[in-house]
Amino acid sequence: MSLLALAVGGRGVVDPDEPVLHADDEALLRGRAAFETLRVYGGRPFRLQDHLDRLRLSSERIGLPPVERTQFRSLAGEALTAASEPEAVLRLLWTAGRASGEPMALALVSPLPAHFEELRARGARLVSLLGLKSDAPWLLGGVKSTSYAVNMAAEAEARRQGGDDAVFVDADGVVLEGPVTNVWWRTGSVLFTPGLELGILAGVTRAFLLEVAPQHGFTVEEGVFPLTELVGAEEAFTSSSVREVLPVVELDGRAVGDGRPGRAAVALQAALRTAAASTDTDSESITSER
Ligand SMILES: Cc1ncc(COP(=O)(O)O)c(C=O)c1O
Repeated sequence: MSLLALAVGGRGVVDPDEPVLHADDEALLRGRAAFETLRVYGGRPFRLQDHLDRLRLSSERIGLPPVERTQFRSLAGEALTAASEPEAVLRLLWTAGRASGEPMALALVSPLPAHFEELRARGARLVSLLGLKSDAPWLLGGVKSTSYAVNMAAEAEARRQGGDDAVFVDADGVVLEGPVTNVWWRTGSVLFTPGLELGILAGVTRAFLLEVAPQHGFTVEEGVFPLTELVGAEEAFTSSSVREVLPVVELDGRAVGDGRPGRAAVALQAALRTAAASTDTDSESITSER
């Protein structure tokens, strides 16, 4: 996936093909960088403030200096202007920098991956895999750092087993999250999703869905649920900034519900798009400060 634009702290927009990090940046040596991935709709990143809040929390947890929000807002704006692509993916990176040096802020704009709309229409097949999450602080549960090799390996394993994506379960069979998504399922008018106490990532899309679900006739239960509940649900779906609300039609080779995208997934995806298209604070201007 080629970069459309790149902006670097202290430098502004640079040629996206230009190398910008030192070889001994801690991000590269040890995966010590915090990052965020946002969906850009009509040129505006969705819920930028929430992503900057999470970037700050992740940075604190991995011992990086505080994130400079104003710097990130302007870098994001510069990169998006340079990219001039209204529907895109924005990544914000806050690296630890060199052992003796300063952290570095980066804003990257990439094209939207093409295949998610097709996947949304047919629904994804999930494969359950063992995942280890914990509230032990050093295991960095809920932190979005660039140490994502395990998550990427899980995605690859799910594909090797004939699926589209993975869902992590702990050693007791409790549902956690996907490698880059939060997981949901529905029985009747109740939506279920794993609770943040499990050490999963507090998804920005997850928070949005918690807010809007009641307006669409759904109540939500967050908690500790065994995988058997997902297996027996009427429908399931995942949520993430870039994949948005993606129906799940199969788990470990068995149909979920009637094996077709479900009504909650369809309604909540529509709600997300409506919010993203509106000009209120949900889809913020990159220059406004809340
Ligand atoms: C592990 C994990 N869980 C959940 C999510 C979904 O979070 P968001 O909705 O903020 O994109 C992500 C996003 O990348 C993730 O990496």
